[in-house]
Amino acid sequence: MRVVSGIQPTGSLHLGNYLGAIRNWVAMQDSGDYGELLYFVADLHAISLPHDPASLRAGTLEIVAALIACGLDPEKVVLFNQAQVPQHAELQWLLNGTARMGWLNRMTQWKDKAGKNREGASIALFAYPVLQAADVLLYQATHVPVGEDQKQHLELARDIAQKFNSDFASDDAPVFTLPDPIIPEATARIMSLRDGTKKMSKSDPSDMSRINLTDDADTILQKIRKARTDPEPLPSEVAGLQGRAEAANLVGIYAAMAGCSPAAVLAEHGGEGFGQFKPALGELLAEKLSPITARFRELKEDGDALESILSNGAEKARALAVPTLDAAYRALGLVR
Ligand code: TRP
Repeated sequence: MRVVSGIQPTGSLHLGNYLGAIRNWVAMQDSGDYGELLYFVADLHAISLPHDPASLRAGTLEIVAALIACGLDPEKVVLFNQAQVPQHAELQWLLNGTARMGWLNRMTQWKDKAGKNREGASIALFAYPVLQAADVLLYQATHVPVGEDQKQHLELARDIAQKFNSDFASDDAPVFTLPDPIIPEATARIMSLRDGTKKMSKSDPSDMSRINLTDDADTILQKIRKARTDPEPLPSEVAGLQGRAEAANLVGIYAAMAGCSPAAVLAEHGGEGFGQFKPALGELLAEKLSPITARFRELKEDGDALESILSNGAEKARALAVPTLDAAYRALGLVR
């Protein structure tokens, strides 16, 4: 088994990122059931949209600090960034010969991000899923933990692998392994604290809409106290959260942090008003997040340590990547 996954260096991390991808990565590491794990920062993907060169490296280091603060251990997993492993970009070019325009045109992320301005979108945005395919095929990944929104990209990676194998390799010696997605069923979608119908996001202009991994305990308590709610008390059953997006979100956050189901939260807190439930939620968040936020702030300051973690990780990743890249060149009749 080999697990590979990536995360974009989007800068400031919040509770939604933590309860989404990151916590799941840490759980897979800690379970010991998944064989070799490779996690990387998708910094090459970041140039597919307008970006600020001056903050890209800082964003990469920041996310590495966050991953480690949340519990990833660079001794147990291979932790690196794409730009330090040139084999990703090299394999992408080779796969560009196999990927079809029609396949990429159907990608919903491409359609969303390019919007009405397809002519003005970058080639990198269009080819984004091919680089993502290279990211996982390069390491013969068997499993790729991703959110629901990335499932389509994973299916594309399988299609590319399958076509490449059938066009250029024999059945008994395929070049690429077809990866399976792992989509955690229970990840609560963490919504904005100001509007329960919008995802918690770093791009929301209101900082009160999200819990950042840099927030201290007082800030967390205050943000939860001010979170938007309705005037009704909590129901005692999940069905009673229907049509109450903000209430459902706070219950979902509580459940995710306590490691239990929303039903269990309501069994305990059903009937409480928000004046009672919010302080309980705030305390829980502050207690669980404070070791993480403290570690994060400390690591972020130690740029040298982060650089050295990344260069060690990249060295291991390159060694794992080379055999597959060589096989891909050979299969295509390219001699280096
Ligand atoms: N596209 C992914 C996202 O936005 C990040 C990513 C890049 C990725 N390469 C990957 C995820 C390879 C899994 C495997 O979340």
